[in-house]
Order: sequence, then C-alpha cells, then structure tokens
Amino acid sequence: MNAEKKDQVIIFDTTLRDGEQAPGCSLNRREKLEIAHALAVLKVDVIEAGFPIASPDDFEAVHTIAENVKGPTIAALARTIEKDIERAGMAIAPAPRKRIHTFSSGSDIHLEKILKMTRAQNIERSVKAVKFARTFTDDVEYSAQDTTRADREYLVDLYTAVAEAGATTLNIPDTVGYAIPAEYGSMIGYVGERVKARVPGVIISVHCHNDLGMAVANSLSAVKAGARQIECSINGLGERAGNTSLEEVVMALRTRADYFNLCTHVETREIFRISRLVSRLTGMQVQRNKAIVGANAFAHESGVHQDGILKERTTYEIMRPEDIGIEGSDLVLGKHSGRHAFRDKLTKMGLILSDEEAERAYQKFVELADKKKLIYDDDLMSIARDEMSEVTDTSYTLDYLCVSAGTGTVPTATVRLRHEGQVLQDAACGDGPVDAALKTIDRITQRPGRLLDFSLQAVSVGQDAMGEVSIRVEFGKETISSKAASTDIVDAAAKAYLACVNRLISRQTPPPKKKKQA
Ligand code: KIV
Ligand code: ZN
Repeated sequence: MNAEKKDQVIIFDTTLRDGEQAPGCSLNRREKLEIAHALAVLKVDVIEAGFPIASPDDFEAVHTIAENVKGPTIAALARTIEKDIERAGMAIAPAPRKRIHTFSSGSDIHLEKILKMTRAQNIERSVKAVKFARTFTDDVEYSAQDTTRADREYLVDLYTAVAEAGATTLNIPDTVGYAIPAEYGSMIGYVGERVKARVPGVIISVHCHNDLGMAVANSLSAVKAGARQIECSINGLGERAGNTSLEEVVMALRTRADYFNLCTHVETREIFRISRLVSRLTGMQVQRNKAIVGANAFAHESGVHQDGILKERTTYEIMRPEDIGIEGSDLVLGKHSGRHAFRDKLTKMGLILSDEEAERAYQKFVELADKKKLIYDDDLMSIARDEMSEVTDTSYTLDYLCVSAGTGTVPTATVRLRHEGQVLQDAACGDGPVDAALKTIDRITQRPGRLLDFSLQAVSVGQDAMGEVSIRVEFGKETISSKAASTDIVDAAAKAYLACVNRLISRQTPPPKKKKQA
C-alpha cells in the first residue's frame, strides 16, 4: 500500500479494532466478518481487523477476515513485543495484502508510568519490533501513542529510527484527544517533513481521538500539513469519546475538494448502509443530529429553508443525500411477494443468510406484512438481522410474552423462554410493562442486569412503523449493548435484553475473556 498518487488520502478503517474497544460495543466473529465485507464494498484502503494477541477469539476473527475479505489491505495490531508481532503475522497470513501495525508510546508520561523505559530504550525496542514485523510483511506501520503530549524532537528521532528500520507508514496519534487543529497540523508538518527528509517515501498517518470533539478537525488539519493516511471508524466509534468519523472526513475531503485538492477511493454511496449496519450490530445508536449519517442530517425544517430547497436544492444543501446512499424510503415488497423475490432483495441489500435463516426471516416478513401495509428496506434489514443473530446452544430465545398494564393496574408480565432444550416460564410485576418483562427475564435467567440506557426509534416511516429498541445493560462489571425491533415495543425491549444476556453468556463461556488494549 502506498499513496503513489500524491493527491490520494489512504483511508484506514479501525472500526473493528479501536471502534470495538468502545464501551459496550463488542462484536462476535460473524458480525466482524460482515462489517469487514461491507468495508470492502465501501472501498476503504486498509481494514484494521483486530488485535490478535488479545484472545484466541480476536486471533480467529482477524484470520477469518484475512482469509475471506478481498480488496483492502488487512492490518493487525501488535505491541512492540515479539509474541504480539508473531501472532499478528500469523493472523493476517492468508491476506493477499497484509500489514502489521506495531505500537509503543512517545510521551514521557507513558514511557515512565506505563512502559517503564527510557527514551533510548523505547527507540531500541521499536526498531527491533519493526525489523521483526518486516519478516512477516513488507507493509509495516508504526505508532507511538500520546504524541500530542510528547517532545517533538524526540518524536523526530523515534520516527526516523523506525522508518530507517523499515516502517512504511508512520502513524502519529492523538491518543488522548488533546490536540487543537492548528497545533496538531503544525506538529505533523514538523515531524513529517524532518523524517521524510531522511527517509523519503514514508506515509505519514494520523489517528485522532475525540475527547474534545476535535478528532475530525485535527485529522483534516493534519492532511493539510502533509499526512496522507487517516485512521477513522464508522460512526466515529472508538475508545471513550471515539475516533475520527470516517463518513465525516471522507465527505469533508470530497465536498471541499476545492480547498483540500485531495481525494479518497471510498465509494461514498455505501456510507449510509454501513453506518446503519454498524449501529445495528454494535447496538450503538447514531445521534439524530450527527453529521452525514444522523436522521436529521438532510432534514430541512424551517419554512425558509424548505422554500429555498424547493426552488434550488443547493441553496441549503452542500451534499446530496444520494451521494451517501440515501435514496429515500422506497417501498420494496408486499404481502404477496414470494420467497425468491424476498431472498433476492436481501442479497441486493448485502445480507447473506443461510437457508434456515432466510426461511425464518421470510416467515417474519409474512407476519409483518399482515400487520403493516408498507414494508421498507429498513424493515427488511431489521427482520433479517434478527434472524442472523448468533443463536448458540447456550442462548435463551423468547417463546412467549404477555404483559398487562394500564391506569389503575399493576404492570405484570408472563414470559416463556427456551434454553438448552427446556421451556422456562415465570411472571413478575414492575414499574411499567417493559420493567415487568425484563424483571421476569431476570428471574428466569438468574443474571440480573441494570438498564443503563433505553431508547426507541421508528425503523421506517408511518404510524405502523416497527419500533427499534436500543439498550445498554450492566451485568456486574460487564456492559453490553444491543438492539431489536418489533411492531410491539415491549417485545422489542425483551428481545434486545435477551440479546444482551446471550452476549454475556457467550463471553463467560470459553474462550477466555478478552483483554482490551491501546
Ligand atoms: O489511540 C491510539 O494511540 C491507538 C494506537 C494503538 C494507534 O489506538
Ligand atoms: Zn486509538
């Protein structure tokens, strides 16, 4: 991977690595593979698929992606430690284009308090790591965490040494989201120019966290100063306040090409679809007013604006919704559509289901078509996703749910679940119908959770739209998010809650619990 065309910015997607580190956001192997396929369709240049040393499950996820996903370079993260690099090298081995991304730190506070090393020892270890990584692939990226609180002269020495040792991409991260755009751009220009004077041809990369809400601005300021790779994630997912949002930097570079004079290879018409997919699989809702992909991003409310738009769209719109793949809510299938048309539509939407999953999804579609006159893409996506969620031998599934609630009555729920071939049933009261249903599930599963967030959104349009419930639940030290949709919101809430319980169970059963890092 190189940016031969000097006007291209390499898009390095880290949704599956840094993004997956966002609290409550973990994904299983199948979900990661699905997102990786969608990233390939989006035409990102590099997919950082994970951190293979973290757990056997992480290793397998990276390996599966390296084996199956064609197009982008597949990258794996490793500390500057031999066993990490070896694991990363093995995990990406099947990929036609592969990268090892090894990282250390650049600031004195990290060196003293975390790595317990001197500056010189850090250079020595980083150089050794890069040389070792080069024995697995010619494409090696090096990062020093916390560069925005580090000494610039030290950064020049450190990055020059690793570039001379064979690192082809030098990533200069704002790990703690501390930088201010002009200051970050000046630091990137300063370090980048000095290193490139010694080792021409290396690519300068940026990776910004959003703690002060400036990740996108900082990344764009850095490309203005010479960086040619941006690390980013779908919907800006990442540690704490998240990372640079892919959709925002890509659309900023495209919309303001007059200013940047740069391009990316991203297929922007896939942006909306992948944003929804990631939100659905991680359970992390996209805020309505989020730039580019939020529900309000292209909604014009004021009369003056609506009038202007009707006269000439560009009066108030700097991007067209169709540029990011919003084609409007198209009516897709009706009550009489057959299995073939149904399956065909799902395939066109990028949803690959097994025969059993497709049959279950079709039955749900028929049921929904009886209740709801108009079926939209989003409804289909929601039905299909529910059937694609991993059901294992240890999963609980909802068999029956009945709630009674209303003024003057005590909200009560009766729930029947299936688990390991058994039918389990119980009833409980609660503060409302949802609370009663979740309390009943707790009584059956014996894994009481604490609801941290609960929100409801319409899946598509119209009064009969399905409701999608997004929840975040705390089980002891674990926090898990999920989503589910139904025409009945209590049913959706119960399914979303059960999905969290099932994720908790799959985490607690071997392979052992994964370490989070970086
Ligand atoms: O934020 C950070 O510094 C990282 C590195 C591993 C690149 O995620
Ligand atoms: Zn990071």
